[in-house]
Amino acid sequence: MIRSVLPVGAALLGCASTVLAADQPTCSLTQKCPESAPCCSQYGQCGVGAYCLGGCDPRMSHTLDSCVPAPVCQSKKYPMTSLDGIVDVSKYLGDPKTADWVAQGEPLLFDGSVLLTMPAKSVGTVLASSTYMWYGSVKAKLKTSRDAGVVTAFILLSDVKDEIDYEFVGTELDIAQTNYYYQGIPSYVNSGNITGLSNTYDNFHEYEIQWTPDQITWLVDGKVGRTKKKSETFNATTNQYDYPQTPARVQLSIWPGGADTNAKGTVDWAGGKIDWNSAEIKNYGYYFATFGEIEVKCFDAKSPPGTNTGTSYTYNSAKGTNDTVIDGDKPTILKSFQGTGVDMDKGGNKASGTSSGSASDATPNTVPGGTSTGPGTNGPAAGNDNGSGSGGSSGGGGGGGSGTDSGPKCESTGFSQSCGGNGNSNGNSGKSDGQKLGGERILGASGLAAVVALAGMLLL
Ligand SMILES: *[C@@H]1O[C@H](CO)[C@@H](O)[C@H](O)[C@H]1NC(C)=O
Ligand SMILES: *[C@@H]1O[C@H](CO)[C@@H](O)[C@H](O)[C@H]1NC(C)=O
Ligand SMILES: *[C@@H]1O[C@H](CO)[C@@H](O)[C@H](O)[C@H]1NC(C)=O
Ligand SMILES: *[C@@H]1O[C@H](CO)[C@@H](O)[C@H](O)[C@H]1NC(C)=O
Repeated sequence: MIRSVLPVGAALLGCASTVLAADQPTCSLTQKCPESAPCCSQYGQCGVGAYCLGGCDPRMSHTLDSCVPAPVCQSKKYPMTSLDGIVDVSKYLGDPKTADWVAQGEPLLFDGSVLLTMPAKSVGTVLASSTYMWYGSVKAKLKTSRDAGVVTAFILLSDVKDEIDYEFVGTELDIAQTNYYYQGIPSYVNSGNITGLSNTYDNFHEYEIQWTPDQITWLVDGKVGRTKKKSETFNATTNQYDYPQTPARVQLSIWPGGADTNAKGTVDWAGGKIDWNSAEIKNYGYYFATFGEIEVKCFDAKSPPGTNTGTSYTYNSAKGTNDTVIDGDKPTILKSFQGTGVDMDKGGNKASGTSSGSASDATPNTVPGGTSTGPGTNGPAAGNDNGSGSGGSSGGGGGGGSGTDSGPKCESTGFSQSCGGNGNSNGNSGKSDGQKLGGERILGASGLAAVVALAGMLLL
């Protein structure tokens, strides 16, 4: 359900100086991307390069094979004790050997865990797994963020927007909200709460999603909190099961559900408007969620659906159902950010990540940006939005190749931007109880400046 997704600039909350390609094409089920920018990103915008990698929706792209094939499932434990496996979206070309997680925003290492941060007036941070899961189970040890309007999420999201969620609202530190969607179709009756948790901000809990072709089970600390059977999801109108069934990436995020720019329903659901002058912001320079060990176990079916015997998953039909997924051996790696699923070697002689394109006119965008509207589909919120769309898109990273141009009042801190904030949003100066948050930033300010400059160049 990627409807009327905010462009990156709109997510910058009062930062008026963002320059976007004014005519960047958007995409939906009824409006596919043009051939010149064939890939429809998770955020509903068209481009090449990273637009064609994780999250690229084959149904909304120019053709089914515009998107780059999706890397198959790998059973793996991610200790999250360093930032080594985390690569910024502007540096990743689709080889899962080079990255466990693709980042937008500002992940940090603190005290042996990965913090996903949300500096003042930013759109937060999202990590997406570089490989997909076609059923299977995934566990995450995490501590949520807190305060009104601040949402922590641990979800599975497929390229056709099948989705299985845990979401945590920062004013409800005893509740894990669970939800699921079929192909991003908004439904307001599928959420369920797991209640009675000991303070989710102070304590690590282990949240698990067990997903099989027949049922979804959500477990907290090893205890079943909710079960949903596929048989309960039959839709008599369409004569099919509205049940998640396609390969999905794991997404971990913090995002501003209470941002001013979000629809009222989203803000209410998120516990109210965000206070960018809160104690968290004053003490640390950002809101944050803390991630410990993550473990993915593939489903390993002997025959489809749910196999991982090949190299990659593709779709052979825009229906996007389990029987249209092909587990095959198509390659997953682009040679440069000029590439797409139909020309994966394009620009291969140029240095990856810094290719500035040929001197052609109308250069398509190469790195999608995030918005303040959160990952996937936010049902309870969308329910009140009466169609204004609290649709997909992860709460990560404004900027990237979409092109940002910091104005006088906007201090660019990278993919997240601070505009007239309290100047403490670099995330490494905060102190509380003598602790110092921050430290090993994955992206130095200079690296980000280079990316922003590059993005600017691409728009020339
Ligand atoms: C989950 O909890 C929230 C907060 O108390 C509440 O607003 C919501 O209605 C609950 N959802 C369900 C499905 O019970
Ligand atoms: C059945 O599917 C249709 C079309 O996607 C959708 O509009 C409707 O809400 C679904 N019905 C239920 C009960 O979810
Ligand atoms: C796969 O999809 C088909 C077609 O939508 C459906 O009839 C079938 O029940 C699905 N199989 C599984 C195992 O989910
Ligand atoms: C959406 O909701 C708002 C407030 O709840 C209302 O004023 C507006 O008329 C609604 N729009 C539509 C299209 O229903």
